[in-house]
Amino acid sequence: MNKVRWGLLSTANINRALIPALRASRRGELVGVASRDAGKAAAYAQQWQISHAFGSYEAMLDSGLVDAVYISLPNHLHAEWSVYALRRGVHVLCEKPLAITLAQIEEMMAASRESGCVLAEAFMYRHHPQTKIVGDWVRAGHLGEISLVRGSFDFAIRSRHNIRLTPQWGGGCLWDVGVYPLSFAQFIMGEPPLSVAGSQWVGSSGVDETFVGQMRYTGDRLAQIAAAFRTPFYTVAEVIGTEGRLHLNRPFTQVHDDRRLLFFSKDGEPQEIAVPDKMLYLGEVEDMHAAILDGAPPYLTLDESRHHVRTVLALYESARQNQIVTLAQQV
Ligand SMILES: NC(=O)c1ccc[n+]([C@@H]2O[C@H](COP(=O)([O-])OP(=O)(O)OC[C@H]3O[C@@H](n4cnc5c(N)ncnc54)[C@H](OP(=O)(O)O)[C@@H]3O)[C@@H](O)[C@H]2O)c1
Repeated sequence: MNKVRWGLLSTANINRALIPALRASRRGELVGVASRDAGKAAAYAQQWQISHAFGSYEAMLDSGLVDAVYISLPNHLHAEWSVYALRRGVHVLCEKPLAITLAQIEEMMAASRESGCVLAEAFMYRHHPQTKIVGDWVRAGHLGEISLVRGSFDFAIRSRHNIRLTPQWGGGCLWDVGVYPLSFAQFIMGEPPLSVAGSQWVGSSGVDETFVGQMRYTGDRLAQIAAAFRTPFYTVAEVIGTEGRLHLNRPFTQVHDDRRLLFFSKDGEPQEIAVPDKMLYLGEVEDMHAAILDGAPPYLTLDESRHHVRTVLALYESARQNQIVTLAQQV
């Protein structure tokens, strides 16, 4: 195999971000799309010029025509279809959050191990040069000792029919966008938190539509995160250390012209750090190709993804009980 043949598992909105990245990559080709509805799959294939349309997810995964699949289903279906694909020898790039229970992610990890197929969480921003530069600055000690990571991701949901508003489907703003600053904090700290405190506002939908969380790490390092479905689009992240801080106004989303990565030293003027331009979704695709074709270890490990799930579950438990939850207690 010198090119990975990709299939899209569903006709989700987010596919439109991945398709240009698949087409920009030299080592992959998009060959199929599957939908629960054959007519929808056919129309989608025509619209996006994809050669094969499948009227069920099984049909594509059993066809032998795809080597890898991009799973862009509602959160509660990520585990079921990842496991199905892996057991048929199909590599999986699955949307975030990889799973919504620990039992699910453990089953997914086992299926990947047993099949020898790659499974990776599609956290595109982790592969972008901006995130890697921030990680390099932190590890090089330019910020001194890290004391605090802050991050937010808000946007307003207009339609009551959005998959994010169904509690049993893994709905809620923490699962949907809170996982960005949560995973960013874990990346900067190099480990999951020891304990968490969460607070939420649950709307008439039954899911959290505003969530704030605090996390404590070894060495008395802290993180604060916020997420919302009720307020206009807003993202920010800050990494704060004894020698200065980094400020990112577009830490997680498609890089816009107004993107700024700024360093504030403890006594100097703000300094702008140059970030190379790269298509936001290309890095995760290239990483899959390296893992599948070269046997390279995926950049974002499954242990990291497991910690994301664990931390989200602990934050929800904390918000429900209105008390601090330690990660050791929360299984
Ligand atoms: N990384 C990112 O930048 C990013 C951005 C947005 C979303 N996401 C993630 O991507 C996933 C999909 O989000 P989205 O907003 O693109 O979703 P969406 O547009 O609502 O699409 C979800 C798709 O899942 C399929 N599906 C299967 N069972 C379903 C059910 N019971 N109800 C509704 N749809 C069902 C449908 O495809 P068929 O009808 O064709 O079968 C549907 O098109 C989520 O996990 C989300 O967290 C990631």
